[in-house]
Amino acid sequence: MDYAAEVRRLKSEKNAVVLAHNYQRPEVQDVADFVGDSLNLSLAARETGASLVVFAGVYFMAETAAILNPNKRVLIPDPNAGCSLADAVDVEAVRRWRERHPGGVVVAYINTRAEVKALADYVCTSANCLKVVEAIPRDKPLLFLPDKYLGMYIAAKTGRPMDIWDGACHVHERLTAPQILTKVKLYRDAEVLIHPECGCGTACLVELPRLGVEPRFLSTEGMVKYVRQSPARRFIVATETGIIYRMAKEAPGKEFIPASEEAVCEYMKLTTIEKVYRSLRDEVYRVAVPEEVAKRARAAIERMFQFA
Ligand code: 13P
Ligand code: SF4
Repeated sequence: MDYAAEVRRLKSEKNAVVLAHNYQRPEVQDVADFVGDSLNLSLAARETGASLVVFAGVYFMAETAAILNPNKRVLIPDPNAGCSLADAVDVEAVRRWRERHPGGVVVAYINTRAEVKALADYVCTSANCLKVVEAIPRDKPLLFLPDKYLGMYIAAKTGRPMDIWDGACHVHERLTAPQILTKVKLYRDAEVLIHPECGCGTACLVELPRLGVEPRFLSTEGMVKYVRQSPARRFIVATETGIIYRMAKEAPGKEFIPASEEAVCEYMKLTTIEKVYRSLRDEVYRVAVPEEVAKRARAAIERMFQFA
């Protein structure tokens, strides 16, 4: 069966859109109406006029789309597409932190489940985390969760003291400073793009400038934009390798060197074109969030849109 053709047919028949994250398989990106990072996908989910949204990404992303669109049907092609970061948070511990710090502010990275967003004051993504944290008065206790590397990067850039949760993404944590330094020494003319979830984060902030290299810490969409407009011909890419497909498409003729070929998120790769087709055909698997949780989570997500 020509799944891509069938997906296109079903999309128009059912007034549906497919939203896909930058790490999705090439053939899934190719049938999507919109491909992007967590921030732009949540904006696209909010703005779509379609009544059916198939979210080719991981569960917390589809859940965010469902929170923002209580009147639309949001589907995920494979409900097992989880996220090690989103799984790192103990909701009760966040509640206890709030009780211990009555005037405190909780900033939750978008890679969290709906129940955690509902306990947060702000949601943020890798694209707007610095702006969100900088906007919070310095005298307020701040808890950042769940990614310790992103938290340490924000603390280093803003000089802001904060409690940082001890979570990590199992894919990005393995992207370490020695690994990136080795690539930098091999490709002296390359620009270095680093996702702030990477385990190398703060070490690369200090060590790369010593080698005369200015690393760019960017969200996945920030990276795509950067390679399109940069005059450089070569880039070392420290994030999940799926993004290289989109980079090569949007910046043809340039060379993209993965910091590690092993940086592959098995959760993102669970979504296949066949599953996208089945999802549209059978209208499965519905992602819905109880309204009392969604209402509080929505308020924290909407607060971050002022920094979009
Ligand atoms: P972006 O928001 O930068 O796309 O990151 C999402 C993610 O899950 C990174 O692992
Ligand atoms: Fe989650 Fe890491 Fe996969 Fe991103 S790459 S979806 S943070 S497990």
